[in-house]
Amino acid sequence: MSTSATPDRFTLPDFPWDSLSGHAAQARKHQGGVVDLSVGTPVDEVDGKLQAALNSVAGIPGYPTTHGTAELREAAVAAMARRFGVTGLDPAAVLPTIGSKELVAWLPTLLGLRPGDVVALPELAYPTYEVGARLAGAEVVRLADGQAPPPGTKLVWLNSPSNPTGRVLPAEGLAEAVRAARAVGAVVASDECYLSLGWDAQPVSALHPRVRDGSLDGLLAVHSLSKSSSLAGYRAGFLTGDPVLVARLLEIRKHAGMMVPRPVQAAVTAALADDEHVAVQRERYRARREVLLPALKAAGFTVEHSTAGLYLWSTRGEDAWDTVSWLAGRGILVAPGTFYGPGGGKHVRVALTASDERVAAAAERLQG
Ligand SMILES: Cc1ncc(COP(=O)(O)O)c(C=O)c1O
Repeated sequence: MSTSATPDRFTLPDFPWDSLSGHAAQARKHQGGVVDLSVGTPVDEVDGKLQAALNSVAGIPGYPTTHGTAELREAAVAAMARRFGVTGLDPAAVLPTIGSKELVAWLPTLLGLRPGDVVALPELAYPTYEVGARLAGAEVVRLADGQAPPPGTKLVWLNSPSNPTGRVLPAEGLAEAVRAARAVGAVVASDECYLSLGWDAQPVSALHPRVRDGSLDGLLAVHSLSKSSSLAGYRAGFLTGDPVLVARLLEIRKHAGMMVPRPVQAAVTAALADDEHVAVQRERYRARREVLLPALKAAGFTVEHSTAGLYLWSTRGEDAWDTVSWLAGRGILVAPGTFYGPGGGKHVRVALTASDERVAAAAERLQG
């Protein structure tokens, strides 16, 4: 038997949050306990209707379908039209995913990208886009605002509202990004997991008629129910857009067993059919934002962008790790901007995903 060296593609970056453990230990020592605003994990209980839907099919023993039930796919198409004005989608072009992180990590590979291909990301971006490119052996370029992807780019990630900056790309900006990607023959994957969380700006889907320029060709929208429906624990998301691309992804995912459990499919269907629990969850985040945003400003922070989504992109004009330390000394844990790209060296990302009580504690500590 012969062994070969580990290929480069499996040399992954260090898991960013591991490097926060020292600051986490410091923050935990605070006498009032830690306020952890470093990750975007939901804290509010799953809506009863969704729990009931999960339970309603818990007795079914057979394998679920990779394509999801017809009800799920129809509910996704209806929700995209009702919530975001995205009309004209084909239910056959909806594909449930096991949360969206796995899809983000494997999309370049599933699309057949290989060494020499390029994946373009926003300058500051969710780290898994880069992980996905590396798993396919592809190269990464980070694009500044309005910068066109270079020739050789096979996949362009868009993310509006952005993690980490909470920035919203208006419809014209998205349309320009789509045009530029199409000009080099790249697929556009628009990660829209914060689309229902606009505060001072109204986010738009890349599939919206004002953006797609008459065609869904080469366009994929990646949706997650983790934030909008507080379903992170269920692992629930879906993909939709270009029917040809979705059919290709479906075929591979069928062979690879990448299927969403049947009870989760039922919960997703219920979640997509109901806007009320989304509005309730949204109001919770709005209230937390209204406490944290002024508290950060009063403590001398400048909060940039952050017009949508679940994060306040904040700076004290110093090195990000100094800000992480300053906050950890007050029992507040946040993520340094460097987790999202070299351009984040002076910012921290403050998440709105903590209970009302913890958010109030953070605001009080920021005063002190
Ligand atoms: C931009 C972005 N995309 C994707 C995800 C993955 O979410 P999930 O796997 O829970 O759907 C996250 C999670 O925080 C995110 O911030």
